Amino acid sequence: MQLFTPITLGDLALSNRVVMAPLTRMRAEANGVPNDLMVEHYRQRATTGLIVTEGTWTSPVSQAYPGQPGIFTAEQIAGWHRITDAVHAEGGVIVMQLMHGGRVTHSEITRGLTPVAPSAIAIDGETHTPLGKRAFPTPHALTTDEAAAIATELATAATNAIEAGFDGVEVHSANGYLLHEFLSPVSNVRTDVYGGSPAARARLGIESVTAVVKAIGAGRVGIRISPAHGIQDVIESDPDETRATYDALIDGIAPLGLAYLSVLHSDPAGELVQDLRARFGGPLMVNSGFGVITGRDEAMDTIANGTADVVAVGRQVIANPDLVARWRDDRELNEPNPNTFYGPGKVGYTDYPALAS
Ligand SMILES: Cc1cc2nc3c(=O)[nH]c(=O)nc-3n(C[C@H](O)[C@H](O)[C@H](O)COP(=O)(O)O)c2cc1C
Repeated sequence: MQLFTPITLGDLALSNRVVMAPLTRMRAEANGVPNDLMVEHYRQRATTGLIVTEGTWTSPVSQAYPGQPGIFTAEQIAGWHRITDAVHAEGGVIVMQLMHGGRVTHSEITRGLTPVAPSAIAIDGETHTPLGKRAFPTPHALTTDEAAAIATELATAATNAIEAGFDGVEVHSANGYLLHEFLSPVSNVRTDVYGGSPAARARLGIESVTAVVKAIGAGRVGIRISPAHGIQDVIESDPDETRATYDALIDGIAPLGLAYLSVLHSDPAGELVQDLRARFGGPLMVNSGFGVITGRDEAMDTIANGTADVVAVGRQVIANPDLVARWRDDRELNEPNPNTFYGPGKVGYTDYPALAS
């Protein structure tokens, strides 16, 4: 039952070890401002030990999905403040996932701006824009100066998040978005300081986390990675190469003393994740990915056997606003409905019932 006991991650004091995983739900206003529906959604889930918000865009070109919220404008900051106030009023702790979407977008989502990436390589596939399905475009390869500026952009976003009342931020370096694109030799074929070797590919991630820490302090900063996830054409198929790249990334950020390292990987107890944990030397959050939905037994075992310090839980938190109480008392669960994962509207978002008290 250790899953239900408190833990401290840096400056974040959690009442239990069930973390609401970052979950893109595409319910914000068209201008990226969080609305009443989002306030209610996050408020309902405040009994998880920590809420990590949906990936949130940090500049107009970084928006990956319609209805995705931002943390760039004064209105967005004010909108998020209503959410952090609601979560805090319920006794919850909440950090924002800062997400630069990189090439996983389209100019019809970024208000006409050309998507950016480490290299001018398009994803082989299609995305949904407000105007319909579109092939992923060939992105603009960031110049060296433009790449360096991403760290500043994320630091500004982190400052905005603190202004919006957040307890901290999580830097999104997973799942095929910009910082992950930099880590893979398939999506990053650069020959400047940001490409060409494992250390060079890890550089932007290190610079970004360092800048964010400088802006708001290490105790309220986490990072999410998904080594060898193989998603959105960010391929990491050579185990030695992958290992060297993530070793470089972790070696670069370990001295900062972050609140936590979050790893999405199908085998959290395996050598790769546990070696990265040892290198990192701080609290570990895990999630075993999209294959099998995280359940009570997996979450309890992960903590009980010492695989990780906290567990990120996605789809069961979507369907069960009071998941912690249900798991603790081994009660029945609502089933998540994938058809309503992505917006708009309250159905499948704020209408999953809590247990009658
Ligand atoms: C609807 C949906 C949206 C997601 N959005 C994000 C996101 O914004 N950022 C992120 O890092 N992961 C995202 N993920 C991945 C989840 O955080 C989590 O890793 C995944 O759902 C697997 O965990 P589970 O089995 O507990 O659901 C998303 C997953 C789902 C199902």
